Parts: sequence; structure tokens; C-alpha cells
Amino acid sequence: MTTSAATGTHTIPTQAYCTLEHFNHELDSLFPHTWLFACLKLELEGKHHYGLRLGATEILLQIDDQGLPRAFLNVCTHRHAKLCDPGQHKGPIRCPYHSWVFNRQGIPTGIPQKTAFPHVVVAPEKYRLKEFPCEIVGQFIFVRLSSQGQDLREYLGHQYDFLERASDGMNKVLDEFQENVDANWKVVIENSLEGYHVPAVHNRTFGQVEGMSQEADAPIFFLEDRLHSHLEHAANSEWVNRFSRMEKKIGKWPWRFEHYTHRLIFPNLTVTSFMGYSFHIQRFDPLSTDLTKVHSRTVGVEFSNGTLTGEKIMERIHTDGHDFTRKVFLEDGEICRKVQAGISQTARPATFGNGIEDRVKHFHGAYLSQTPALRKP
Ligand code: FES
Ligand SMILES: [Fe+2]
Repeated sequence: MTTSAATGTHTIPTQAYCTLEHFNHELDSLFPHTWLFACLKLELEGKHHYGLRLGATEILLQIDDQGLPRAFLNVCTHRHAKLCDPGQHKGPIRCPYHSWVFNRQGIPTGIPQKTAFPHVVVAPEKYRLKEFPCEIVGQFIFVRLSSQGQDLREYLGHQYDFLERASDGMNKVLDEFQENVDANWKVVIENSLEGYHVPAVHNRTFGQVEGMSQEADAPIFFLEDRLHSHLEHAANSEWVNRFSRMEKKIGKWPWRFEHYTHRLIFPNLTVTSFMGYSFHIQRFDPLSTDLTKVHSRTVGVEFSNGTLTGEKIMERIHTDGHDFTRKVFLEDGEICRKVQAGISQTARPATFGNGIEDRVKHFHGAYLSQTPALRKP
């Protein structure tokens, strides 16, 4: 543990970004005790099931007969084949090896040549897929790999109400991409937590963005939650008025606010939105010490009382937004790669600017609070 003289806060040691030992420690001791964001409920609807890797564990998600999301180990209880590949799949879970079919509660209910398996037929629930705690707030489905721990509401603190309200009227994924970044997951998260790098890294891209207040003190940071943080940055009044003038055409959406917000829900989810007319949701999957997969979705919300022209206007706003998001993502990916190249060369701890890097500092505190092995006296 490193103590910064200027701030009295604690800094994650550089080797925690670079060594396989630390990476494995995170997989074994950090991720299992947090709630990990998995996917959105709307991505499971229509009898889909969904494969993904959370930490070191292959997970399969689906909605059960009661309408609740359930998370299972993505491994067949017959002879261990992985049941599905990552992503969304239609229909019931069918094992690719001998075609056992599992119902929505994870119980094998379709077994070819079942007379050979009287022990399974008589008590199929004994061969149910291993299950993990799975909870939902609004559209956001979270999984905990450990059977013990806080419930989701307690874990999310102030972010619970935000996720619930943001989910109001969320109806479709407008844009989606998955890309790898050549950096440790913490480098990628930290990059998303400050705007200090914007003039250097995104000087041309952000120059074209309208709508944000330009006052130097505009963003407000919220650091009350021990693990999570967010900011709100007021929208400029001209942009708000423009939306008000367009209201007859574009209609209304469920939760209109007059700022930009960026939220980190520790450890693997960020949610951003400008004025609430869509939400940009990113899941960060650590693949190795220096490789992170980012799964990015922009999710739209339902508009009411709009016109066809209004729909076209919003489509254009969204398309511009998608292009912007991808450009920014590539610029951030490139700088994260350079940070990773540098961080592996030094044991010298990072130093943080007051105010502008408070959320990065908060993330370091959150991370260290969850990784006691790094907290030496
Ligand atoms: S391993 Fe799955 S049905 Fe045999
Ligand atoms: Fe950036």
C-alpha cells in the first residue's frame, strides 16, 4: 500500500496491473464477492438464453417460468460439455454433446435414450445445473459468484435507485459492439473516471460535441458510496431549450434530466447518459493481466406522442452518438495501451490531481477495500 503525502489516500501498487499472480488473486478473491453486471433483461426476453464469462466462471443466464432471471454454471451435468458459446441464443438449453435439454429452472427434462439413465429420470432435480445468486434492478441483471454476501440493493447503495429509474421505458439496444483493449481492466476503468485527459487524447473529437456546459466547475462528483461513484455535468441551457422546442416532434421520454451523468458500478459496469433519452452501458471483462474486453451497448427508451419527423430527428441524434462513441473508444483504447506499456516498467505509484481525479482516487480506495492482501500495515 502506498500513501500519498498530498492526499493521505491509498494507491493501488503498479504490480497489481501487471502480474499474473495479482490477476489470479482478483479472480479468486475480488470478483466472487462483488455483484457483477451480466446483461439486460430485455436481452433475455423471448425465451433466449445467454452465455458469458464473469471473472473466471462460465455463466449461462435465462428467465425462468416465474419471469425471474437465473444464472447457472455453463457446464452440462452429464459429462461436462460447455453448454453454449458467449452471446444470445434462441430456445432452450440443449447440450451440444449428447443433446440433453434443460428447462428454464436448469433441470434436465429431455434426455435421449432415457432408459439408460433411470437415476436421472427418477430425480432430475439432482442433476440441475449449478446455480449462482442472481438479482435484478430494473433492466440490469447482476450475478454473484459467491453464495454468501450482501443483497444487491445494499451492495449498490445510491446507484440502486438510479438503475431502477433509468430502466423506465428502456426498450431496445440501438447499437452494440465488443472490442478488446490491450490493457488491464483497472487501467480501462480509470480512464473512464476522469475528463482530465480529454484535451490531450480527444482534442478533435470532443471539440465537435455540443450540449455540455463549458463552465470549469460544472461537473459534480458523488463519492458517498464506498465502491461506486458518479458525476453529473450540467447540460448547457441552449441545448436544453433546443430539446424543449423539438418536443412537439420528438415527444416525451420517461426520465428527462438536464445533465450528463457517468456512473461506475464497481467493478465491471459503467452507465452514461445525456438527458436520459438513451443510456450507454458498458461491461468490462478482464481477460488477462493486460487484456480487457469491453461490451458496449446503447439502449433506447420509449418516446410518447412524437411524430414521424421526430423519430427521424432522434435517429440522427443516435447515429451521431454511435459514431462519436466508437471514435472516443478507439482513442481511449490507444492511450490505455500506452499506460499498460508504462505501468509494467515501474513500481512508482501514481499521483492524483485534486478534484479532477477524485473519482480515480475513489476507485483506488474501493479496490483496496476489496483486496485485503494488498493492504499491508
Ligand atoms: S455432456 Fe451434455 S449431454 Fe452429454
Ligand atoms: Fe476518454
